[in-house]
Amino acid sequence: MTGVETSTPQKRSTNVEPVIRTRGLTKHYGSLTAVDNLDLAVYPGEIFGLLGQNGAGKTTTILMLLGLTEPTSGEARVMGLDPAREPRLVKRRVGYLPDAVGFYGGLTGRQNLRYTARLNGLRGEGAEGAIQDVLVQVGLDDRADDLVETYSRGMRQRLGIADALVKSPDVLILDEPTTAIDPLGVAEILDLLRTLVHERGLAILLSSHLLTQVQSVCDRIGIFAAGRLVGQGTVDELAATFGDGSATLEVGLELVDDAQVARASEVLGGLAGVESVVPPTDGQGAWRLIVRPAAAEAGVRQEVLVAAVEHGLHLTTLRPIVPSLDDIYRSAILRRAA
Ligand SMILES: Nc1ncnc2c1ncn2[C@@H]1O[C@H](COP(=O)(O)OP(=O)(O)OP(=O)(O)O)[C@@H](O)[C@H]1O
Ligand SMILES: [Mg+2]
Repeated sequence: MTGVETSTPQKRSTNVEPVIRTRGLTKHYGSLTAVDNLDLAVYPGEIFGLLGQNGAGKTTTILMLLGLTEPTSGEARVMGLDPAREPRLVKRRVGYLPDAVGFYGGLTGRQNLRYTARLNGLRGEGAEGAIQDVLVQVGLDDRADDLVETYSRGMRQRLGIADALVKSPDVLILDEPTTAIDPLGVAEILDLLRTLVHERGLAILLSSHLLTQVQSVCDRIGIFAAGRLVGQGTVDELAATFGDGSATLEVGLELVDDAQVARASEVLGGLAGVESVVPPTDGQGAWRLIVRPAAAEAGVRQEVLVAAVEHGLHLTTLRPIVPSLDDIYRSAILRRAA
């Protein structure tokens, strides 16, 4: 995972103000509570992922942050501004990719971006340069002068990201930014988001139901279920909260005969803290050590190194397996429901 070192709240300097902050933010639609008492803080230089199933309240939260729908109670601040009172000022500072992007189909991609640039006070050569830059960044420069009505869904989504970026915002809010984009394109877009955060110190809030993407790009994650934030933190922190208390080590060994395989199994299984040993399924891949408690993992790693040397086992890899966000998510939702 990337960026964890810069994102843990303990390491963040105390005088950095969050760019997005909500307190008790709540939205009712009739008897339905779409967002329930949400406390959220997103800081400059981080990507925060709102993760939740359909109907969890992600879009409603985003709409309140942009002043596009009014909270029933509680408050939101974006760059210190109240979006319910000053939606225009907020929109000037925040690049927003809606869940359904709308463009003028009869205009080209570039013309649509010009329109957005003009709305944000950008004109002339400055605007043309900025537009070309973002078109290249999202990988759309070769189709920029085609009509948007000829674009695929993924191209529209890329144009949506370009549109959010063209005014050089301080904050990006992206509602499901990659749902229509193909896997290679997703990797490019996620790289772009990382670069923006690193180079410009931007803050990004993105919503998604795609666990692996959130895991690969977000510094911190908020798990949303039925309008409530049921867990918040880095993947490691969430794993500690919602995991089953074990850690997994991957151990690659080059073993020449059955005797060595048996020896490896015995040696690994005998290490203190190792609860069980899962041999490679095809005889080729890595071994997996289930370590309990999870905190013993670093110690077990040292023991594996020592044991390999002692027993003449040729070690090829040794690394902890990052818990799957999938598992964390399931357990967070289940615990919430229990
Ligand atoms: N305008 C509306 N009127 C009534 N109910 C609404 C409205 N907008 C959203 N809701 C309800 O609020 C809840 C949260 O919806 P929201 O769109 O915020 O979810 P989401 O997490 O963005 O879901 P998805 O992953 O499907 O985009 C849902 O139960 C939805 O039906
Ligand atoms: Mg949504």
